[in-house]
Amino acid sequence: MRGGNQTISEFLLLGLPLQPEQQNQFYALFLAMYLTTVLGNLLIIILIRLDSHLHTPMYLFLSNLSFSDLCFSSVTVPKLLNNMQSQDPSISYAGCLAQMYFFLFFGDLESFLLVAMAYDRYVAICFPLHYGTIMSPSLCLCLVAVSWVLTTFHAMLHTLLMASLCFCADNVIPHFFCDMSALLKLACSDTRVNELVIFIMGGLVVVIPFLLIIMSYARIVSSILKVPSARGIRKAFSTCGSHLSVVSLFYGTIIGLYLCPSADNSTVKETVMAVMYTVVTPMLNPFIYSLRNRDMKGALGRVICKKKIPFSL
Ligand SMILES: *[C@@H]1O[C@H](CO)[C@@H](O)[C@H](O)[C@H]1NC(C)=O
Repeated sequence: MRGGNQTISEFLLLGLPLQPEQQNQFYALFLAMYLTTVLGNLLIIILIRLDSHLHTPMYLFLSNLSFSDLCFSSVTVPKLLNNMQSQDPSISYAGCLAQMYFFLFFGDLESFLLVAMAYDRYVAICFPLHYGTIMSPSLCLCLVAVSWVLTTFHAMLHTLLMASLCFCADNVIPHFFCDMSALLKLACSDTRVNELVIFIMGGLVVVIPFLLIIMSYARIVSSILKVPSARGIRKAFSTCGSHLSVVSLFYGTIIGLYLCPSADNSTVKETVMAVMYTVVTPMLNPFIYSLRNRDMKGALGRVICKKKIPFSL
């Protein structure tokens, strides 16, 4: 496959495996889901910013999570929507690497923020009296900053390794965004180092956060079981329920993608799972947090009422 020295300047994204008559329905569906994602997450960020009752560590992390969901979805979905309508589904080489970088960046950021949120719930339930001193604003800022630094390093490492590969013959990506594994299959240079780094770093970035989350929930459960009371259990459920749902959605998709034995039509399965984590998960997170949450509803009421009074004067 070593066909000459000329390098490829753009890739073709094949998009979703759809029949031509299905294109318009799916276009409308993805557009609606993307708009819901943007509006839902923006609403959460604005509510938390405007309402001072929500300036607690849990909601500041949630606002960061919404920001990262919004960006994560925006890395892939607008390009997908654009390609569904255009005759020329191409993406430049630099655009492809940039998409890969931001995809990794916001994907990891989400996983690190989920760990910070799990730690926050652990402190809130196991050390309720010291919560204010342990989860100080500087610690919160520090956790968010560390997440940004680690995720920058990780995304940069993969992007630089990918940029060092040579792409010379094939430029058709059978996916709807520049997925790392799809790109590796197109490279004409040796990809063993890349695969090794993906394997090791992927393990660290997915498995360590997952174990940390499991550990904090194990501590939460054991602390509730030590003094079992209906009130304690209800409190734990009401404060951890939303976080646990988001964690299950996030890791459920990853586990479904990588651990379940793949059927023969694995491209279809891979595409469906990729749609799950790029389109569906970022859309559901705001609903999971706001529907059952009395604080968020109260904040919405207060923000709307506060806005109404000056207008009615
Ligand atoms: C993210 O969290 C930090 C620290 O708690 C907070 O200062 C910042 O405002 C949050 N960012 C967003 C976009 O909500």
